[in-house]
Amino acid sequence: MTDITASDLTLEEKASLTSGADFWTTTAIDRVALPSVMMTDGPHGLRKQQGATDHLGLAQSVPATCFPPAVGLGSSWDAALAERIGVALGVESAIEDVAVILGPGVNIKRSPLCGRNFEYVSEDPLVSGVIGAALVRGIQSQGVGSSLKHFAANNQEFDRMRASSDIDPRPLREIYLRAFQRIVTDEQPWTVMCSYNRINGVYASEDPWLLTQVLRDEWGFAGLVVSDWGAVNDRVVGLPAGLDLEMPSSGGRTDAQLVAAVRGGTLPEEKLDLAADRVLELVRRARRRPAAAGPLDVDAHHALAREAAARSIVLLRNDDRSGAGALLPLDRGAAIAVIGEFARTPRYQGAGSSLINPTRLDTALEEMRLLADGDVAFAPGFTLDGTGDVEALRAEAVAAAAAAEVAVVFLGLPAAQESEGFDRESLDLPEAQLALLAAVREANPNVVVVLSNGGVVALPFRDEVPAIVEAWLLGQAGGGGTADVLFGVVNPSAKLTETIPLRIEDTPAFGNFPGEFGHVRYGEGILVGYRWYDARALEVAYPFGHGLSYTTFAYGDAVAAVTDAGDVEVRVPVTNTGTVAGREVVQVYAGPLRSVVQRAPRELRGFAAVEVAPGQTRDAVVTVRRDDLAYWDVRVDRFVVEGGAYRVEVAASSRDVRAETVVEIAGDELVLPLTMNSSVADVFAHPVTGPVVQQLMAGALAGLGGADSSAASMLPDDDALQKMMASFPIGRLAGFPGMPLGYDQIEELIRTANAGGAPDPELFAARPATAS
Ligand code: BGC
Repeated sequence: MTDITASDLTLEEKASLTSGADFWTTTAIDRVALPSVMMTDGPHGLRKQQGATDHLGLAQSVPATCFPPAVGLGSSWDAALAERIGVALGVESAIEDVAVILGPGVNIKRSPLCGRNFEYVSEDPLVSGVIGAALVRGIQSQGVGSSLKHFAANNQEFDRMRASSDIDPRPLREIYLRAFQRIVTDEQPWTVMCSYNRINGVYASEDPWLLTQVLRDEWGFAGLVVSDWGAVNDRVVGLPAGLDLEMPSSGGRTDAQLVAAVRGGTLPEEKLDLAADRVLELVRRARRRPAAAGPLDVDAHHALAREAAARSIVLLRNDDRSGAGALLPLDRGAAIAVIGEFARTPRYQGAGSSLINPTRLDTALEEMRLLADGDVAFAPGFTLDGTGDVEALRAEAVAAAAAAEVAVVFLGLPAAQESEGFDRESLDLPEAQLALLAAVREANPNVVVVLSNGGVVALPFRDEVPAIVEAWLLGQAGGGGTADVLFGVVNPSAKLTETIPLRIEDTPAFGNFPGEFGHVRYGEGILVGYRWYDARALEVAYPFGHGLSYTTFAYGDAVAAVTDAGDVEVRVPVTNTGTVAGREVVQVYAGPLRSVVQRAPRELRGFAAVEVAPGQTRDAVVTVRRDDLAYWDVRVDRFVVEGGAYRVEVAASSRDVRAETVVEIAGDELVLPLTMNSSVADVFAHPVTGPVVQQLMAGALAGLGGADSSAASMLPDDDALQKMMASFPIGRLAGFPGMPLGYDQIEELIRTANAGGAPDPELFAARPATAS
């Protein structure tokens, strides 16, 4: 089949090739011996169904390792680990002869209420891009394709198949498309999955701007675009826009529409050929993969899942103000009461298409018992479905807590509240769990709260319990990973990739989420996540980037230098000032001191982790890519790096800046065409014309500034004068008393500037007559 091209196929064959054969496979064409290939979920494990099929995670799939969903893995800020998990996903896909695994998902967490946040990495595009790229790299290193999803601006589940995400160009480019851009340009995923929703009124599955102009022409994507399952609205419109493959099968209905459109002359056949060739190339790529070696090493992948789980756990709080020392890590010999059904019946993944049938399942309770030397009592405290004798369950838990030295209370969101397909209704944990915690605290103040949740939850008790462990949904080995962190086998190092807000009312999309009547307005613009809380100076429960360790780190002075490639290399010495080895995720936030556009107070531009032994100092080296400093300029429709001084903040979290420096960045050349309506500031900024006009104006203003000039004396200083003049349209200056340029001269100036020439000094030899 290696040399088959679209031209070898009939019109009907090409139409059928560009839609699925069934739920998970492409269409085989026996006449030319073209096999089909399988694509299947994704993203944190393989969901290959053998019997009944569906895209909602209902029917059983073959056992596979359930790694931590993106909410966990992202919190590790560990690209090397994400790549290893990608490799493992690739290996499992290869063993099951799956050509493409449907992930990763890198949509931005716009609201904490999005029901699918557990499948996404962050509220920040840089972390999303770096972790997503690492996963793609790992998967594809095994000769298996990834499907980067959901392209694009699919940030809620409510009305997800119809709603239009109405977004201005800057947030769209700087926030919502940026992770996709990084992953496409760095890693070339084999496929990109277009999302269900509309963007500014156009279905993603039929948007030529999105699927062709941005994805292919601007970013150089060379792979195949597949629809999300059921995302096709009108395939005859979608195909020429850049949708190559419809999944799942439409039973031939839309194939017939394509054939009719080609025959009727409304769809050029070359467009269909292009899509068919891309499917053929996908099949070829998949067939090139060597046969998988041997059965799945369940133990090794489970161990990797455990390592990743422990790396994903964020220690939110570990207070030792009582003077008795921090509660965590737990003393192995202590009498411990484990409370909460989640310790015995873990929540380790979310519902929907990513639902994995795990090869094994750890529970925190068993794993803690394996690590502890002392007594570990257990009381469920509540039931998962809210049934049962609430009072009796609570009384039993209180008694267990009272009899123990420390109570570890597992709280979390019920599975029914977090799923693909619908959004959450509030940030709150169930009342019964909060009441249980209050009762336990009264019986024993030494409480560690361990949270199981895919989306962030309000933590009204955060100042009243000594320790809080954010254990997310951590995959099948989450129980082991949690026990490792609780007992200090692993020193936690994960940090939040999303802000934990105090109240839903404080969140950026509040009032604009989830929209109404088919439209959701992204009114917060670029101020998404911490960008919003910082810009509004809002208090939060825990800021983006926060996460504690069992040791402490001191940062030295930061040094930033521009590399030959134009990137910025930031170095900071990090000293482990505690008593155990630890890993610190060092974050670099950077932005220009002055900007022509609105900027968030702080934007993550790079990060790196250092492992440091107690008493040791090591340099963290963070590379900030020059491209990542750019803003989207709507005047020229492209990213632009502004020149000038940039503040570089080296931080332990978005609200814990430890060192600061300034670096000078050479900007991109940006010459905007001038018009009579260009402002004085625009004209001044013009590289050739600007200096000439500035000089002329300075002369004129000096003339104004005579001792008897009341006009000039009204102005406090040059600065104020400049500010006042800055927004004045240049054309309207003509003929103003004392102005050095007449209308004709300004027109000539603009013409020459736009033609790329320098102004002729002769032109200004004679000043226009001025009113006296
Ligand atoms: C989801 C995708 C998934 C697909 C196939 C859709 O409902 O949005 O993420 O890959 O189903 O299961």
